[in-house]
Amino acid sequence: KVLEEHKLIDVHEKTADLYHHILMNTQIGEKALIYLKNRGLTEEVIKTFKIGFAPVDRSLLYKVLQKENFSEDTLKKSGLLFQLDNSNWLDRFYQRIMFPITNFQGKIIGFSGRILEDESFDSSDQPKYLNSPETELFNKRFILFNFHQARSEIRKKNEVILFEGFMDVISAYMSGVKNGVASMGTSLTVDQINALEKVSEEVLICYDGDNAGIEATSRAVDLISAQSMMNIQIVSLPDRQDPDDYRMKYGNDALNELIRTSRDTVFQFKKDYLKRDKNIQLETDKLLYIDELLTELVKVSSMVEVDSALTQLSTEFAISKETLQSELRSKKQNYK
Ligand code: GTP
Ligand code: MN
Ligand code: MN
Ligand code: MN
Ligand code: MN
Repeated sequence: KVLEEHKLIDVHEKTADLYHHILMNTQIGEKALIYLKNRGLTEEVIKTFKIGFAPVDRSLLYKVLQKENFSEDTLKKSGLLFQLDNSNWLDRFYQRIMFPITNFQGKIIGFSGRILEDESFDSSDQPKYLNSPETELFNKRFILFNFHQARSEIRKKNEVILFEGFMDVISAYMSGVKNGVASMGTSLTVDQINALEKVSEEVLICYDGDNAGIEATSRAVDLISAQSMMNIQIVSLPDRQDPDDYRMKYGNDALNELIRTSRDTVFQFKKDYLKRDKNIQLETDKLLYIDELLTELVKVSSMVEVDSALTQLSTEFAISKETLQSELRSKKQNYK
């Protein structure tokens, strides 16, 4: 079993080396390299994350791995290739920028590939990102992109930053923020939260500023508060941008500053979030909104934060603080 795992990791390390070599040193990787440089990645960063390129020729990986004396069983189990009915082999990934995914020990156990758009290749029916399939080693619900590399920085800062996309993690890294991780394009899982809580008391959620990102932020906030003791803060990106868009538009320093200084508490986030689908001018919506906010406040443990929030609400909606307090107290009793 251990030997088998070792071989699967070996397949992945060799594959990553190949894709990285193709990107950095060959003609077939040239367009991909230009694409990445246009997105602001330096060669140093490309090396740090061992980014690669899987060319359009779907027989390449098999040709290379064949020479390495891996068993057919190991090759199949890797999920990087599969065998057709006519017994020919096909590479899973092609025409994609390849991001190696490591386990918590830093060993490569899977990939995520981003399609490289090109006029000589119709990618309209391809997903933007394609991941390795679930294997013995690659369980998406446990994996966090960049966790291994970020761990010491996470411990040092006692804070981890959650991003939606790999490019956001890399963008933050380039702007000097090195404690970022991302889940595998799926929503955050309890297993991932458990892993994060072992190394950090603070979590900063920095998802995309579009609708999907805001909804995902709200779900992540709810799950983290239900499943852990971590303290949560939120950075909201303006104008539907993601952190990488923001860096491309305003530069490294601006992204760094946004992440350091534009943080909301969970309550501040929910205040904006819960308002989104309401017309506060309507009495019914307004009452529902206040009720939902008080429900959120039940979960806040800091008395100072609760008091400050009630003061705000009292002013904003011209309701006495005493009334809000007694409503909150009765909610607390039902909550237990
Ligand atoms: P770029 O366009 O390269 O900047 O990607 P992005 O990270 O901004 O992508 P997006 O915000 O659309 O998605 C966030 C994350 O979700 C990505 O990093 C992927 O991990 C994942 N994701 C996006 N599209 C797909 C898809 O088509 N399939 C899968 N499996 N995951 C996806
Ligand atoms: Mn998308
Ligand atoms: Mn997104
Ligand atoms: Mn995005
Ligand atoms: Mn993006």
